[in-house]
Amino acid sequence: MHLFLLFLGLSPALAQTGSPRTIIPLNCFDPAVFTTYFNTLYPWGSDHNGAARMATTHLSLKNNAATITAQPVKGQKDAIHGGRNIPIHYLASAFNAKQHFAVAAKGGFDFTAEFQAPVAKGTWPAFWLTYVDGWPPEIDLAEWKGSGKISFNTFNTSSIVSSKDVAYPNPGGWHKIKTELRDLNGKDVQTKFYMDGTLVTTQVGKGYIGKAQYLIVNLQMEGSSGSPGPAGNTTYSIRNLEVLSYNP
Ligand SMILES: *[C@@H]1O[C@H](CO)[C@@H](O)[C@H](O)[C@H]1NC(C)=O
Ligand SMILES: *[C@@H]1O[C@H](CO)[C@@H](O)[C@H](O)[C@H]1NC(C)=O
Repeated sequence: MHLFLLFLGLSPALAQTGSPRTIIPLNCFDPAVFTTYFNTLYPWGSDHNGAARMATTHLSLKNNAATITAQPVKGQKDAIHGGRNIPIHYLASAFNAKQHFAVAAKGGFDFTAEFQAPVAKGTWPAFWLTYVDGWPPEIDLAEWKGSGKISFNTFNTSSIVSSKDVAYPNPGGWHKIKTELRDLNGKDVQTKFYMDGTLVTTQVGKGYIGKAQYLIVNLQMEGSSGSPGPAGNTTYSIRNLEVLSYNP
């Protein structure tokens, strides 16, 4: 044991590939440490491309889980996205990691978390990465677009997209999502998407190496998930989130 540790100490490269660094730890939804790791809302504010406006009031931290509630509302000002007016029918919430994620040459990240995600028409919860300096890159580590299925996507351009939709059993229960991002060839990033321990799909993002991405958790409504959305509150919960870095 002693000799082994000494050996690791003398071989930094080996130590790096063998032992990932924890970027976001399992206790990150403890209210005492949440703001060490996350900002509330989207990195760019309260609105995006669906029918919910994000508000800090609609996020709660309890039992080491983060829960977002989408609540039907009236009288909100339209959102503007891509030059279009989007009527706001709900208040909900979003949060994003303070750390940004760029897969380095010979590096990678593991994102792991458990979710209780709604799949009803008009509900669009997501757990995703998107480029800090433009778009794409975008990797949807998991999203649910109101169809009863779960989707995993990687964008090369707005129209060249790897997409995999699969059945999402027992949406009331917790499901574990694990996503492994790795340098494939010095330019592209290979992503393996696992649900409940089973590999669902492998996708490749073109030219993703070195591109910093935001990590976002949000509950959008309507938009790509159809409309009208539910007449009552909808909740989306995440727990046991952990992010590990394999970057050299
Ligand atoms: C809906 O959610 C909001 C925000 O969390 C809460 O204030 C309200 O009491 C909820 N309404 C019902 C009927 O549960
Ligand atoms: C995106 O680009 C990568 C790298 O060239 C390629 O392997 C992958 O198949 C592309 N995705 C799609 C949907 O064409």
